[in-house]
This record gives sequence, structure tokens and C-alpha cells, in this order.
Amino acid sequence: MASLDIGIDLGTTSVIVYMHGKGIILREPSVVAVDTRDNTVMAVGEEAYEMIGKTPAYINAIRPLRDGVISNHILTEFMIKEFLRKTSKSLMIKPRVAICVPSSITDVESRAVVQAATNADARKVFLVEEPIAAAIGAGIDIKEANGVLIVDVGGGTTDVAIISLSGIVRSDSIKVAGNTFDEAIIRHIRQKYKLLIGERMAEKIKIELASVFEPSENEKTTIKGRNLVTGLPQKIEITQADLYPALLECAMEIVASIRRVLEKAPPELVGDIYSNGITMTGGGCLLNGLDKLIASHIHVDVRRAEEPTDSVAIGTGNVFDYISDLSDGFVNASTYQH
Ligand SMILES: Nc1ncnc2c1ncn2[C@@H]1O[C@H](COP(=O)(O)OP(=O)(O)OP(=O)(O)O)[C@@H](O)[C@H]1O
Ligand SMILES: [Mg+2]
Repeated sequence: MASLDIGIDLGTTSVIVYMHGKGIILREPSVVAVDTRDNTVMAVGEEAYEMIGKTPAYINAIRPLRDGVISNHILTEFMIKEFLRKTSKSLMIKPRVAICVPSSITDVESRAVVQAATNADARKVFLVEEPIAAAIGAGIDIKEANGVLIVDVGGGTTDVAIISLSGIVRSDSIKVAGNTFDEAIIRHIRQKYKLLIGERMAEKIKIELASVFEPSENEKTTIKGRNLVTGLPQKIEITQADLYPALLECAMEIVASIRRVLEKAPPELVGDIYSNGITMTGGGCLLNGLDKLIASHIHVDVRRAEEPTDSVAIGTGNVFDYISDLSDGFVNASTYQH
């Protein structure tokens, strides 16, 4: 029954669960709060996210998937189990679960993910690579012999891939994505204004003000932090143009990654991409001007998927339609159990 197929986008920033026929059924930050006195988990998801930067010394709010790799197996497993428990407790039959994993994931890490889902009562577990899920979620028919270029800008990694005939033909993955822009903002404000700001404030500035294409002197925002010299709280005003050079440097690494993939690609497929354009997915692709910057350097049209933040989850939930066709980027992970 199709409604018992679940797709999980196990992202660095957030975990999104999509159920075939129902849509998005869970969206929570990928954060776990741990009590370091006895190593017990205090909160998972939204509740743990609220604790970031505000915890007493004995509570640690951890992102177990930081930078697109599983930096903490036990907590990742805990998180998967908790989210699956939340979403599937009302189901009468055990679901088939497809999980989208970062492309740099190791074999050992894959096993940990599969084990976690199996322990959480999944009937069958499949692993999907992020570019494949992103393409399906962006509404692309990946079965065609027609090259498409996907650029998924997440929180921890940017994945660039050319897909044709249900497989990944060429790809590149870099650890430059949404978080990198936040870090660049923090660094810039610290160096130029001697003001220390937190990661949540930096993300807010990125979403509300930042631009990596033709920045304006007139777009401004007020930011609050702690002055590093006086140690006191301080408010300053910054402009879009002020942040631009620091952000451009990171954005150009994404452009370079796209260029590397195109340089290695068979000419026929490059021709397809010239006609089809580039499709961007992932929350990080919403950065103001990133589409225009890429188009101006690569000289092809760039479009954002309709719901970029949800594309991977939607594609993971719908990957079951392609089970018989997928040659690459799709692993029947349930075999790991035997
Ligand atoms: N409007 C916006 N403008 C700029 N950046 C945004 C916007 N909305 C979300 N983001 C950024 O998108 C990133 C999260 O994207 P996404 O949810 O696709 O990541 P993820 O899938 O969890 O990470 P990964 O794919 O690397 O594992 C964050 O860095 C967030 O700040
Ligand atoms: Mg992602």
C-alpha cells in the first residue's frame, strides 16, 4: 500500500519526513540535547534547538550530523528512532522507509542508519543518495536519457551532480553550504566591528539581508551582539554591500564545484544541460542572488525547485516509484541486516 512508504531526509540542519500520499509529516531541527553529567538525552528536535547557545554547562546541544557526516552515531540513531516513533506510531502496518543520506557517508555510518530505522520498526529500509532524491523531488523524470544538473545546497554540504538514465554520471560534494555563509558572517562582523554574534543571529542576517549578486548599499539591518573590547552588549547597523565580499568568496566555491562537474562530463550531456538549465534544491539555494551568480558564471539558466527545502524529502518519499530502475544512488539497505 503506497501510503505506508515513508521518506526521511536526514539533513545536517533538519530532518524532514514525507509520507507518500500525505505530504510532509514531520520537520524538526537535527539537534539533540544531552545531559553531560550522566550522558542521557534530554530533548530532540525543536526543543533541543531552542537550547543552542543558551544551555548551562552540563547540557550540550549537539548537531549529530554536522557538516554532512555522522559525527555522532549514537545520537544519530537516537534521533532517527525518536522521529520514526513520532511519525509511525499511528500506523497499523510497519512502513517501508527510504532514508536520504549525505553522499560522503561511509559504510559503517550507513549500517548505523539502517540499524536505527530497523530498530524503530521499519519493515524494509532503503538508502538514497541526496542528488537522486533532490532531482525526483524537484519534479524531474530521472529515467530519461537526458542529462540534468542538480545543485543541492544544504546546511553542511553542497552536492552537484549530473543525472541521466536514473544514475549519477558525474558528481562533486563540498563542505560549503548554508552554515558556511553563517560562519562567514560571524567572522566578518567579529573582524570588522569587534562584535561577537551567535549562529542563530548570523542565520537571521543571511536570510533577511545577505546577497551574493549586485548587493545594495541601501538594504540594511540592525544586529545585536557582544563587543569584544568592552565586553558589553552593542547594536550596529550593517548593509548588504558590507557583507558581500565575505559571502561571495564562499559562493564562488559552489560555482567552482559546478564547473568541475561540467568539465568532467561527457559532451552529449553538457549539451543537454545547456538546454535544460541547472536546477537548485536545498534550503541554502534560497540565498539571495545565488541563482543569478551561478547563471552569470556558467552561462546556463538556473531555476530553483518549487519547494527547495522540501525537495529531498519529497524525492525520498517518492523514490519507491523508481525502485526497479535505479542503478545508482539507491541501495537496498535492508540486506545489511543479514
Ligand atoms: N531564505 C533563505 N535564505 C538563505 N538561506 C536559507 C533560507 N532558508 C533556509 N536557508 C538555509 O538553508 C540551510 C538548510 O538547508 P537544508 O534544510 O536543505 O539543509 P539540510 O538538508 O539539513 O543539510 P545537508 O543537505 O547539508 O545535510 C540552512 O543553512 C539555512 O540557513
Ligand atoms: Mg539536504
